[in-house]
Amino acid sequence: MNDWTWRYEGYDPARERLREALCTLGNGYFATRGAAPECTADGVHYPGTYAAGGYNRLTSTVAGREVENEDMVNLPNWLPLRFRAHSDGTADTAPETAWFSPDAGGLLAHEQTLDLRSGTLTRDFRCEDAAGRRIRVQQTRFLHMADPHLAVLRTVLEPENWSGLLDVESGLDGEVTNSGVARYRDLAGRHLTGVTTGIREPDTVWLHCRTTRSDIGIGMAARTTTTPQPASSRLEPGTAHTRRLLLLPAAPGRPATVDKTVALHTSRDPAVGDPLQAVLDRAGQAPPYADLLASHRRAWHELWERAELDVPGEAGRILRFHLFHVLQTLSPHTAGLDVGVPARGLHGEAYRGHVFWDELFVLPYLNLHFPEVSRALLDYRHRRLPRACRSAREAGRLGAMYPWQSAADGREETQEVHLNPRSGRWLPDHSRLQHHVGSAVAYNVWHYCEATGDTGYLQTRGAEMLTQIARFWASGAEFDPALGRYRIRGVVGPDEYHEGYPDASAPGLDDNAYTNVTAAWVLTRALEVVRALPEPRRRQLFEETGTDPGEPDRWEEVSRRLYVPFHRGVISQFEGYGELAELDWDGYRRRYGNIRRLDRILEAEGDSANRYQASKQADALMLGYLFPPAELAGIFRHLGYELDDDTWRRTVDYYLRRTSHGSTLSGLVHGWVLARVRRAEAWEFCLEALKGDVADIQGGTTEEGIHLGAMAGTLDLVQRGLTGMDPRADALVLDPAPLPELSEYCFTVRYHNHWGLAMRLSPGQLRIDVPASDEPPVRLVLPDRSVTLDPGESCTLELTEP
Ligand code: BGC
Repeated sequence: MNDWTWRYEGYDPARERLREALCTLGNGYFATRGAAPECTADGVHYPGTYAAGGYNRLTSTVAGREVENEDMVNLPNWLPLRFRAHSDGTADTAPETAWFSPDAGGLLAHEQTLDLRSGTLTRDFRCEDAAGRRIRVQQTRFLHMADPHLAVLRTVLEPENWSGLLDVESGLDGEVTNSGVARYRDLAGRHLTGVTTGIREPDTVWLHCRTTRSDIGIGMAARTTTTPQPASSRLEPGTAHTRRLLLLPAAPGRPATVDKTVALHTSRDPAVGDPLQAVLDRAGQAPPYADLLASHRRAWHELWERAELDVPGEAGRILRFHLFHVLQTLSPHTAGLDVGVPARGLHGEAYRGHVFWDELFVLPYLNLHFPEVSRALLDYRHRRLPRACRSAREAGRLGAMYPWQSAADGREETQEVHLNPRSGRWLPDHSRLQHHVGSAVAYNVWHYCEATGDTGYLQTRGAEMLTQIARFWASGAEFDPALGRYRIRGVVGPDEYHEGYPDASAPGLDDNAYTNVTAAWVLTRALEVVRALPEPRRRQLFEETGTDPGEPDRWEEVSRRLYVPFHRGVISQFEGYGELAELDWDGYRRRYGNIRRLDRILEAEGDSANRYQASKQADALMLGYLFPPAELAGIFRHLGYELDDDTWRRTVDYYLRRTSHGSTLSGLVHGWVLARVRRAEAWEFCLEALKGDVADIQGGTTEEGIHLGAMAGTLDLVQRGLTGMDPRADALVLDPAPLPELSEYCFTVRYHNHWGLAMRLSPGQLRIDVPASDEPPVRLVLPDRSVTLDPGESCTLELTEP
């Protein structure tokens, strides 16, 4: 193991699915789990392949009702490759030995290495068959980072104690379903139809199919070449499988090498007429293995250059691993696609590949490295703005109501019922009331534009989204004369444990502080943008969005008078939170050990999390994640509230004691917020965020897909959280709060057009290097001073303790 490689020794069937998720390879266009090519989906293995944005809808009957679910579709499996020693070493005798399988015994050693620098996954293993014949296998795969439609699998097979012939079968499997998540097993999962297969002499097999409703055509071709030439070879099309069967001579010191080059196209791809023709062309014309590997490594090298991050120690190793998976999910290829941020990467089927608010934790990182990718992800939202406007209209509101879970066309995809695996009951799911997702979209629009200086975007698509999201908030706020304030009622905040008041007949909560404060922020930003627009553009924007010229006055009014509840000197998560019962945390910990999913535990006991002051994840504290202290205090002031340091500290303490961290986002946000208030426990939470996936802290969730928000969030923690970096249109604001455990590291960012602006943090110092260019100078603003650096200049700032 070094900083760039992750090695997994041995073979542990119980942890194989976790390893598959962590060893997923992808290039932003598609991804494939790190499954063993000789295995099909069963209790141990799950060889999933997913194309970004490739969704399909199916109807299932659960708990006596029909429900629709749209899933990111598991595509045909391109991995299949199996082998065995030919029965008696001659070409014309039918083989009797079994194909090698790690689950059938005979595995002598097994090691798997994920090489982050070059984006390859290598398996090294030895096996022995029933006749005592041993084979050493080295298998390397990659999903091409320069040509995103290609994947490559090289297998080198070397007999150790015999010589003769090897049987090798290399194929494509269209007999796949979405069945990777046990909780969804009662739901329909057969998304592919019309599978046809075929062959193209001398070495290629192909498969074509469609998704049942979204009607996405999928073409896949696999060309298998070998060294030495096969003693015999046959291409065999089947109903849903197609394969090339080979007999290969091999001996100790004279291994057989099998190269499988696979092409994937779908009918969603730009500049593609017929996916089948496209894959046949692509696989047929792909260069040899060594050339493909070289161009793939070059592409990765360029990515690493644009996202340089050097953090010492174990934290640095994990951060690089996180960066690797973020880049495999959202690469520069993503910029050419119509896709959002899938909460669980392209690594598994949890949450069905849906897009939540998690982009809030991802875009601020990408803005400073791959702004073109951020912009494409914002465009995904912009294309679905009309759909969000329709949802708002149907809810009797103005503007845009973005869905809590989004997939292909932007309608609400949140399931209506979900299964509590602990009780076996299907329960109503009200998480769709998390309307705060709209503010996350607005936040990302604003911050993308600030970090990049893309005012063109802000004035066009950005302004449209901001306006419609602001209108949604303004139209949903009801004036309460008794309070003399506006209220937003019937929502759910980020903490998903609370979906309603105990024993209330309708779901939803009133005055969620996070929702209201972010809504106030959106309204203010929308006003600012609209007022700054040139008059003709403002008129046009109002016409396009149906905004009445009088509406901004209401935005102003609501932005100043939204209600934020407080109790016992702290911000209330929502109105009435302080009156809920206190949970016996110690008692539950004693009884259940792991209580992260307290909601499931309580429901299985016949109780409900709604009754308790117990939160799944950071909710009110999210405010400290999104806004630097001075900005947050400013938003409260604008609302007519005083938020001093003491109130904030008390609020942090209060929720810290009442949160079970049932989401990986929680550790991240707590680590960030505690670091900002310079608290010793910060590191504990940062570690939790770092280990979330590599140690599968939530227990069995990572195997269903990585947690992309938490992964990207940890990168942003070192980039913006600990440096207090706030990239604005006119200045790069800095306010470092390094952790003793993480006080020395460096990274580069792209701020406006300054590529490779370097930051080096060391105890008591921050050094900044602005690379030479023709760009304007960079103004750095710290709490106690400001400095302007010309391109080519550097400075070292002494940091004073606050
Ligand atoms: C969290 C949400 C998150 C979702 C997808 C849930 O467990 O509570 O905040 O958006 O996972 O990552």
